[in-house]
Amino acid sequence: MKYIAEPFKIKMVEPLRMTTREDRQEAIKKAFYNGFALKAEDVYIDLQTDSGTGAMSNAQWAGMMMGDESYSGARSYYHLMEAAEDIFGYRYNQPVHQGRAAEKVVFPALTKPGQYWLSNTFFDTTRGHVGLAGGRPVDIVCPEGLDTTTYADFKGDADVEGMRAFIQEHGAENVAGIVMTITNNSVGGQPVSVANMRAVRALADEYGLLLIIDAARFAENAMFIKMREPEFADASIKEITRETFSYGDMYTMSAKKDAIVNMGGMLGVRDNDELAEKIKSFVIPFEGYLTYGGLAGRDLEALAIGLEEGLDEDYLRYRLGQSQYLAARFEKAGIPFQNPVGGHGVFIDAGKLLPHIPWHQFPGHALAVELYIEAGIRCCDIGSLLMDRDPVTGDAQQAPAEFTRLAIPRRVYTQAHLDVVADALEAIKARADQVPGYEITWEPKVLRHFTSHLRPVTA
Ligand code: F0G
Repeated sequence: MKYIAEPFKIKMVEPLRMTTREDRQEAIKKAFYNGFALKAEDVYIDLQTDSGTGAMSNAQWAGMMMGDESYSGARSYYHLMEAAEDIFGYRYNQPVHQGRAAEKVVFPALTKPGQYWLSNTFFDTTRGHVGLAGGRPVDIVCPEGLDTTTYADFKGDADVEGMRAFIQEHGAENVAGIVMTITNNSVGGQPVSVANMRAVRALADEYGLLLIIDAARFAENAMFIKMREPEFADASIKEITRETFSYGDMYTMSAKKDAIVNMGGMLGVRDNDELAEKIKSFVIPFEGYLTYGGLAGRDLEALAIGLEEGLDEDYLRYRLGQSQYLAARFEKAGIPFQNPVGGHGVFIDAGKLLPHIPWHQFPGHALAVELYIEAGIRCCDIGSLLMDRDPVTGDAQQAPAEFTRLAIPRRVYTQAHLDVVADALEAIKARADQVPGYEITWEPKVLRHFTSHLRPVTA
């Protein structure tokens, strides 16, 4: 696999501090073996998330200077509305301060206590907001989604027949709606096909359910559709995006991903004015007046520009190429990962790489700690550490897979950085049986992976 060269050049740099293995051993110990507690300046290559960590373009930075900071009716708001209407084709679009802010506004407005929400897989915050609104989140992904070794073009798809069976068993009146996460983050940034969106739309219509698109990585999803769904081989990314969105009633979006801003979010309603009015009444108390939605005018401006830039095919080819390059190096080295690789990074199958570590000693976390010690790379567990305890019994829960996620920030790292990551993993693979598991010494009640204290399990 040839690395697809950057369709941009670098005009501003941020120096990184180089550390020794001893420095890093000390730093991670001080952080209670939890990467979230590390100081970012002790990290060399930060693959913890692709969210809000991208590099803005010269046009975006110039836009920041042009931002209109009026409380209401700012020029930058209208610029954003123009871009959003054009790209998504929805009548009502609303800025908010980030993705979870959109979730906080939408789910309480649309959930009756005890109702189920179904999804191809909820992202953690979306799952959390469904729960906070009194709803019950249920993941129903296609079977290939959880099988890391078999190739499938659209592993992010929902299992439509599984959803139908669930609705029939529990009654449509007990289901509030369906959330389609594109790309499907938690199963590895895997794409969702237009065919699947059509089938889920038909299901929603059959039972009178709302369909919400969680659109954080909508542009990467559209590029996968262009490459893999023959009907769309000649369509533009904007056309594919409009087609995808045409099957939703609403969207929520973290703009910190494909719109390449450091902070921002959106939500939208396709054509239901009543629904839009209901949502607006939640936006003002939570996020602020409708024309700024928790963002500064300069943020609205950078977001309007970023939305358009994120659709550029040369950029998207390079962007998806970074994950593919890293994955190709892993494949050559026999390092197991969610295959084919997704859009925003590589999900290593740590359960398979470190088979001597049982799930309750968190193989995905163990590999993340080891990557930090080996080469100053920060990444995180998407496995049994991330799974909170059962809220009723307090028992630890086993995740369906033990992943270590290497999320790649947009337009930030070069091929040589990716080679450092691949070399580090190869070195760890060679001594894999010596990598220890971890146990928790302190944990909070919810979202424990952020703040838990851990220690290596020694013999
Ligand atoms: N939906 C998806 C699919 C996400 O991946 C995220 C964030 C959100 C919603 C929430 O958006 O962070 O702007 O409030 N994902 C980040 C990640 C944090 O690292 O995957 P937010």
